[in-house]
Amino acid sequence: MKQKSFVMLKPDAVLRRLTGKILTRFEERGLQILAAKMMIIPRAQAEEHYAEHKEKPFFGDLVEYITSGPVLAMVIEGDECITLIRKMVGATNPQEADLGTIRGDFAMETGRNIVHASDSPASAEREIALFFQDDEICQYQLPDRELVY
Ligand code: TYD
Ligand code: MG
Repeated sequence: MKQKSFVMLKPDAVLRRLTGKILTRFEERGLQILAAKMMIIPRAQAEEHYAEHKEKPFFGDLVEYITSGPVLAMVIEGDECITLIRKMVGATNPQEADLGTIRGDFAMETGRNIVHASDSPASAEREIALFFQDDEICQYQLPDRELVY
């Protein structure tokens, strides 16, 4: 079943010029980018995005970090892509992330783990709505199914 996920390349991914490499992984796996925008997240939006962590000790630093520079916010589509993208992203703590995952290959610390991806269909819906208007999401059909792989 086709799903949409909210994926965000965090400020250090942008500042370290890793966006192309990371996008290539999603594209080569066969996923479609439906929306993408470079933005500096307003503080209130960052707090809303991470609302589930409001009471955690790391919340302040997390909001500070995510608003510290540009992020590349995206909607990515593909078959059962929410779980797939979480697998491609790897464990929250990059020290525990498997090699071959984005965090396992490009990051060293939890507080600088370079990518966000929705963890469930409900989160994806909420996060996409927080970052994108419907008319910013480009729905398109692939001309030939065989081109996906
Ligand atoms: P979480 O939703 O648990 O992880 P994930 O991004 O894998 O869904 O946490 C959100 C972000 O908060 C996480 O990417 C990095 C940050 N964070 C910390 O800084 N310290 C922590 O101990 C945890 C659990 C998360
Ligand atoms: Mg999370």
